Amino acid sequence: MTVVGLDLGGTKIAAGVFDGTRLLSKVVLPTPGEGGMAVVQALAEATRKAEAEAGVEGVAIGLGTPGPLDFKEGVIRFTPNIRGLVNFPIRRLLEEATKRPVHLENDANAAALAEHHLGAARGEGSSLFLTVSTGIGGGVVLGGRVLRGERGQGGELGHITLLPGGPVCGCGLEGCLEALAAGRALEREASYAYHRKVDTKELFQLFQEGEPRARRILFQAARYVGMGLASLVKAFDPGVVVVGGGLALNAPQAYWEALEEAYRHYLAGWEAPPLRRALLGGEAGLLGAALTAYLEVRDGGG
Ligand code: BGC
Ligand code: NA
Ligand code: ZN
Repeated sequence: MTVVGLDLGGTKIAAGVFDGTRLLSKVVLPTPGEGGMAVVQALAEATRKAEAEAGVEGVAIGLGTPGPLDFKEGVIRFTPNIRGLVNFPIRRLLEEATKRPVHLENDANAAALAEHHLGAARGEGSSLFLTVSTGIGGGVVLGGRVLRGERGQGGELGHITLLPGGPVCGCGLEGCLEALAAGRALEREASYAYHRKVDTKELFQLFQEGEPRARRILFQAARYVGMGLASLVKAFDPGVVVVGGGLALNAPQAYWEALEEAYRHYLAGWEAPPLRRALLGGEAGLLGAALTAYLEVRDGGG
């Protein structure tokens, strides 16, 4: 059996045909800036291309998308980092466009599922995953299944509040982990400190050169991630904690040391689950989206 995985990101859409263990194809398209139907069309096109490249069709589609979801209705409630997807009935529209059943999952929940079954948390009974990139997402896997919660907002770990009155988040609140430590937050801090536009790549460079402002910004962000994870451990006590996402995985070693130091600091006197780096890299979201559809079809979850 083969299915199609789709990973909808803020800047790109990844699609691939999946056979239960590996991807038979992979294509990447830009995410249309205007949101709405343009996103649906792009997802349908990515599906066609991935199937053409693999030479085989999928019996179903798994879509990983940012934001809290209404799983019952197949609706994206809102997305902190993509415009034009508020109360958006993505499942129905994508099913109409592709003539295939579509199974939704939150993008980070999907990545958590992939790391759990195929990556850094393989063999564990439970795991907690955090992805640090443009935004911050999370996923909690218990008994092999990802925690969706009663309202489709379980695992929205980027929006735990760490600094009341802190910087404004894409979700509208203040002081969320995402507003303090995601790529967008780092660029904001760096641009403020250097009085010009500085992206995360340049920030890493300045950090490596020992530039004090870059060091302060990156260390602070790493500490917030470690602090947030320590709190989450007290909520879930997972077998293992996995950290991934483009920003974290490309960050210098010193970032990881600061992160782990804060993690241990805020768990002093408690038992700290092992902290691991994600293994599937940029492919976790895509694999997880595909896995979501694959497991639904195989286990008849509907
Ligand atoms: C969203 C999450 C998403 C994460 C990564 C956050 O802003 O709230 O749903 O998983 O970004 O894309
Ligand atoms: Na999530
Ligand atoms: Zn937030």
